[in-house]
Amino acid sequence: MHPNIARMTSVFRSTLTYILLLFLLIACEPKEEKKFVIGFSQCVSNDAWRQAMHEEMYRELSFYPTLQLEIKDAKGNSETQIENIREFQKMGVDLLIVSPNESEPITGIVEEVFRSGIPVIVIDRKINSNQYSAYIGGDNYEIGQTVGQYIKNTYPGYSDILEIWGLRGSSPAKDRHQGLQQALEGTDFEFKYQIEGEWEREVAKERFRKFLTDNRDASFDLIFCHNDVMAISAGELCKEFGIENVKIIGIDALPGPRAGLQAVSDGILDATFFYPTGGDKAIETAWRILSNENYEKENLLQTAAVDFSNVRIMKQQTDRIINQQANISRQTEMIASQIEIYQSQRGLLIVFGITLFVAIGSLVYVFKSLKDKQVINEELKKKNGEILSQQEQIIEYSQKAEQATQHKLEFFTNVSHEFRTPLTLIQGPVEEMLNSKDIPQYKDDLLLIRKNTYRLLRLVNQLMDFRKIDHGHMGVKVSELALVPFFEEIMSVFTKTANTNHIRFKLLCEEPGLKLWFDPVMMDKVVFNLLSNSFKFTPSKGFIYIRIFQDILKHEVVIQVEDNGEGMDQEEILHVFDRFYQGNSGIRKVGTGLGLALAKELVEAQHGQINVRSRLGESTVFEIRMKMGNAHFGKDEFLATDYRGLILDHESYVSEFLEKNSSKETPQSEKTILVIEDDADIREYLRKGLSGRYQILEAQDVETAFSKATDMVPDLITCDLMIKNENGLDLISRLKKDPRTASIPVIVISAKSSQEDLLEGIKSGVEDYMTKPFSMTVLLERINAILLNRSKIEQHFLHALPVSENKAVDGKPEKSDKKFINSFNSVIEKHLSNPDFGVNDICMELGLSRGQLYRKVKSALGYSVNDYINKVRLKKAKFLLGNKEHSIAEIAFQTGFKTAAYFSTVFKNTYDLTPSEFREKLLE
Ligand code: FRU
Repeated sequence: MHPNIARMTSVFRSTLTYILLLFLLIACEPKEEKKFVIGFSQCVSNDAWRQAMHEEMYRELSFYPTLQLEIKDAKGNSETQIENIREFQKMGVDLLIVSPNESEPITGIVEEVFRSGIPVIVIDRKINSNQYSAYIGGDNYEIGQTVGQYIKNTYPGYSDILEIWGLRGSSPAKDRHQGLQQALEGTDFEFKYQIEGEWEREVAKERFRKFLTDNRDASFDLIFCHNDVMAISAGELCKEFGIENVKIIGIDALPGPRAGLQAVSDGILDATFFYPTGGDKAIETAWRILSNENYEKENLLQTAAVDFSNVRIMKQQTDRIINQQANISRQTEMIASQIEIYQSQRGLLIVFGITLFVAIGSLVYVFKSLKDKQVINEELKKKNGEILSQQEQIIEYSQKAEQATQHKLEFFTNVSHEFRTPLTLIQGPVEEMLNSKDIPQYKDDLLLIRKNTYRLLRLVNQLMDFRKIDHGHMGVKVSELALVPFFEEIMSVFTKTANTNHIRFKLLCEEPGLKLWFDPVMMDKVVFNLLSNSFKFTPSKGFIYIRIFQDILKHEVVIQVEDNGEGMDQEEILHVFDRFYQGNSGIRKVGTGLGLALAKELVEAQHGQINVRSRLGESTVFEIRMKMGNAHFGKDEFLATDYRGLILDHESYVSEFLEKNSSKETPQSEKTILVIEDDADIREYLRKGLSGRYQILEAQDVETAFSKATDMVPDLITCDLMIKNENGLDLISRLKKDPRTASIPVIVISAKSSQEDLLEGIKSGVEDYMTKPFSMTVLLERINAILLNRSKIEQHFLHALPVSENKAVDGKPEKSDKKFINSFNSVIEKHLSNPDFGVNDICMELGLSRGQLYRKVKSALGYSVNDYINKVRLKKAKFLLGNKEHSIAEIAFQTGFKTAAYFSTVFKNTYDLTPSEFREKLLE
C-alpha cells in the first residue's frame, strides 16, 4: 500500500474511535424522566409561616427535578379552595397537596379527588375524613396539651386565661384548644375570655382592641393565642392599653423579624411553641407516592417550647439553619447553572460531533475516490497494455493481409496471363472465318465474338501492365521523338470510325517539329486509351481534338484530348482515374474502368501529370503535362532501339469501334424496324442482326422509343419488357392506343420467361413474344412472317387503294404521308362498323380541322375523305366475302352499311356484281 494511504488509514481509524466515544457519551446522557405535576391548594399564603412552608417545599423540590409544583391560594376562603381543587383535578395533576382552610367544607372535594385515583397529601390542617393518601403536620392536640403543661409548671399562680382563637372551622384551632383544655382540667385555670382571631394578625388585633375597649374592667393574667402573629398583636395591644403582668403565649416559633422567636427574645411574648410547616416532608412524601415507594400515612411533626430560657440557642440554631438553607439554595443555583453550562457544552459537543462526522464522511469519500482512482489507473494501465498488444496484433494481421493480397494479386496476374493463350486461340480462327466468304449467315456472330475477344485481350493486357507497375517492372524507356507523326500514327487507326460517325477528328499543333523525351510504348497506351474513351462517349457529328503545345513558362509540353461527348459530373471526375471505376453506367457506355487508371500510372511513370476537366453534357478535356528535356530521367531509362516493334497492333483494339459504327451492309429492305432495348450490347446485336435486311431505328429509353415510333412510324417494333426500370408493356399499350402507332406490329424480346409474362404480353396486343437468349435466325423469320402477313392484309383491303392513280408517280407515299395514312387508316378501321362515322370523328381523333383533314387526305391519297371511307368499307367487305364465315347482312353491318340492301346497291355500283355474285365468283 502507498505510505500516504497507510497514514490516512491510521488517522481515519483513530478518528473513528473518537467519534464512537463521543456518540457513547451522548448516548449515556440519563434518559429524560417522566415529569410529575403536583397541585398544591393552599388555604392562605400571605403570612410568614406559609411562606416558610413554600420555601421548604421549593428547597426540597430541587432534589427532585422531575417534580413540578403549582400553588393555588384560596385566600382564606373555603369556596375558593374547592374551586382551586377542581381546577387541579381538571388539569390532571399527578398528586394533590391540600392545606384545608376549614375541615368541614373541604372534606368532600378531597375525598372525591382521592377516590378519582389522584393521590392526596393533607398538610397542616386536617379534614373530617381519613380518605387521603398521607397527612403531614404537627399534632395540634398534643401541642395544646404541651402548652397546658407549660402553663401549669411555669405560671402556677396565673389562672384567668384569655384565648385568641384561630379559625374555628380549622382543625389546628380546635385541637389546640382541646389539648390545652384537657391539660388544664382539674386546675384553677379558667378560659375566661375567648376572641375570634381567625389566624390573622389584623383580625385578632381588631377584635382584641374592641374587647379591651368594650371591657375596660376585664381582668386576665394569661393570653393564649393559637399562633404567634395573633400573640404579637395581642402583646402590642396590651402595651398600648397599659396592661402589665400578663403572660402572652403563642404558637409557631418562626425565625425572622416580627416572628415568634424574635418576639420571645424581645420579651413581647413569654413563650411560643415550635410548630413545623412540614413543607419539605410533604414534597418528599409526594415523591415517594409518585415513585411507588413506601411512605407513612400519618406523619406527626414534633413540637417544642421556646421561652426566655432557650430562645437564644433556638435563634442561633435557626439562624444557622437559615444560613445553611441559604447555602443550599446557592449551591442549588450553582448546580443549576452548572447543568446549564453542561447542557450548552453538550449541545456544542453534538454540533462538533456532527461536523466531525461530516468531515470524516468527506474524508472517507476522498479516501475512497483516491482508492478508486488508483484502481482505475491500474485498469487503464492494463487496458493500455492490452491496446498495445492489440495494436501489435493488428500490425501483424495487416502484414499477413498484405501478404495475402500479394498472393492474390500474383494469382490474379497468373490467371490473367493464362487467359491470353485461349483468347489468342479463339481470335485466330475467328479472323480466319471472317475472311472466308462461305459463311455470311454467321458473320454477325463472328464479329461479336471478335469484338469481345479483343475486349478481353485488352483488359488482360491492361491488368498485366498494372501488375508490372505495382511491382516496378514497368521500367521507363525514353527516346526523343517528334510528337506529330507519333500522334498521327495512333490517330490513323481511329480515322475510319471518326468518318463513319461524322466525328471531326483533328490534331492541332502549331509546331509540327516539336520533339519530346518520352516512353513511346507507354505514351502509345496512354493516347490510345484517351482516344478510346473519347470515341466511346462522343456522339455522331461531334468532335475529338488533340492539341499539342508548349507551356514555355513551366517548361512543359501539354497534350490535350478534347471531346464534346457526354461529359462527367463532379463525382465521376473525382474517380475517373480510379481502377475499375465505371462512372454513371446509366448514362455512360460500359467500360472496363482500367484504361484511364492505367493512363495515369503510365504518365506518372514518365514524371508527367494527367488531369481532367469536364462539364456534364458538354465536353471533356484530358490534359497531359510532360517535362521538357531529359534531365528528369535516370541513366537506365533511355531506350536504345527503335520503338516501333514494341507497339502492339492497334487495329485489333479499335475493332470494337469499327464494328460498332461501320455499317457495311446496305439495307436490303425499305421496311423500318424500331429496336427498343436499353442494354447496349443486345441493342448492338439486334442492330447488326437486322440491319442486313431492314432499316434500323434504335431507342434505349421509353420516351425516345415513343417519340421515334410516332415520328418515324416504323413497320415493326421489337421491344424489351424492362427498359431502364420502366415497364415495356406500358409503353406497348401506349403505342397500341395511339392511332399513329396502333397498327404497328410489336415483338417483345424479354428476359422474362414465365407463363404470366407471356400472357401479359399477349394481352397487351403484341404480335409475338421471344425470350432471351434468342436466335437471330428465328427472330428474322418471325419478323419476316409478320411483315408479310401485314402486307397481305393491306393488299386485300387497304393498300390496293391507298393512293389514287393520279397521285404519286411510283404510287408510294412519302414518309410523312405514310405516317398520316397509317393514323388515318387505323381510325377508320376502328370505327368501320359505325355507319354514322364520318369526317367529324376523324378530325377529333387526329386533332385536325376539317380543312386540314381534307387537304392531307387529298394530297396523300388522292381521294376525298368520304370517298376513301367508302372505298375502305367496300374493300373490307370484299375481303370478308372471301370466306363464308359471315352472312352478307353481317358483313354489311361490320363494314358500316345501315342495311344489307344499301350495301348491295353500293357494292353493285362499284364492282358491277352484287355481294353474293362476288362471293360465288370468288369461291368457284
Ligand atoms: C398560619 C397559621 C399558623 C398556624 C397554622 C395553623 O397561617 O395560622 O400560624 O400555626 O396556620 O393552621
